[in-house]
Amino acid sequence: MPFAGRDLLSARHRRVRDAMLDRGVDTLVVTHLPNIFYLTNFSGTAGIAVLSAERLYLIVDFRYHAAADALWKSPHGPDGSVIRVQNSPEEALVELLKNEAFGRVGVEGVHLPLSRALTLADALGATIQPDRAAADASSAGIGPGSRMLATEGLIEAVRARKDEHEVEILRTGARMLSGVALEVLRAVEPGRCERELAADIDCRLVRAGFERPAFDTIVASGPNSAMPHARPGDRVLRCGDLVVLDFGGVYSGYCVDLTRTLSLGGGHDQEAKRIYDAVRDAQAAAIQAVRPGVKASQIDARARETLGAHNLADAFGHGTGHGLGIEVHEQPRIGPPRESIADDTVETGMVFTIEPGAYVQGWGGVRIEDDVLVTRNGCEVLTAVPVGLTVD
Ligand code: GLY
Ligand code: MN
Repeated sequence: MPFAGRDLLSARHRRVRDAMLDRGVDTLVVTHLPNIFYLTNFSGTAGIAVLSAERLYLIVDFRYHAAADALWKSPHGPDGSVIRVQNSPEEALVELLKNEAFGRVGVEGVHLPLSRALTLADALGATIQPDRAAADASSAGIGPGSRMLATEGLIEAVRARKDEHEVEILRTGARMLSGVALEVLRAVEPGRCERELAADIDCRLVRAGFERPAFDTIVASGPNSAMPHARPGDRVLRCGDLVVLDFGGVYSGYCVDLTRTLSLGGGHDQEAKRIYDAVRDAQAAAIQAVRPGVKASQIDARARETLGAHNLADAFGHGTGHGLGIEVHEQPRIGPPRESIADDTVETGMVFTIEPGAYVQGWGGVRIEDDVLVTRNGCEVLTAVPVGLTVD
């Protein structure tokens, strides 16, 4: 699979170091695997990265010694050092932190389990404080009385703006996903069961070149389509059903995501058509609002207003979209303003979904989802699949 080259990884390290400086962190202990992949191209299931002002370290256990060595020798290996775990990764980390003058250390507060954090703090003779607290230079360093910062979303904020490698991967992934969607739309027919159809979609994703589905594929038919995250079950699709199909794939480590809603056999009634058209208009209005400088909540508001104008405000209970990248749900969050959650400003290079829906319990629902890349003047819609209630 195509990987980011060493220079691009170094550029990512610089962006993350700038973000660390802003938070008063000299060295960041990275335990969230998607963030480790972002910094190193390492894609194992366990590992710890340490990014200091000067260096990058990757701590890996026996299972990944050979993979890490191969990565480091390749053109897409990061500038930094591999540390081979002898006993436990935590011991290797403590030894590294004790032996180097790393200044103020941050950990990923959202991703480091509490018990691991406490063990680490104990071994280092440090306490942990939230990163909202003011940085205090007098307590920098490791040792009795020192404090570590529990950072929140530090690397994730950097990841929200994609670099050129990521944009190319996501563009290709979205094109591949659109091809799968065209096949899938033709394969949906009365008589197939939700679970079997979901398995068929997953199979098509892998055949098309995806590493795996990006999340559990949703096939929701008839009344089940009123549940935004329905699990595919034994229900057999019937003539006249609304069917929500929501699926995505991971390509070269990056997630793309798409939803279409179909009516089977043209038996849909006026109400289905009315709701479908409202969701389609809401999606178009939200896409129209995407450009650098707007607040994410303003994009969400366009979708919500449009559905409100069709008396469907109460039928739309989730956010309008989410960032896409190494994770299927990442920054920015395209949703209504909330007191405790940042309302991100949209910037060029961000990639996110636009997926309004309307759900009527006991009857059915509609969702339409596409992936967009923010450009200087607006956005590029990366997915290309006809939007229509019936398949031509
Ligand atoms: N498409 C699945 C999700 O956004 O959660
Ligand atoms: Mn989605």
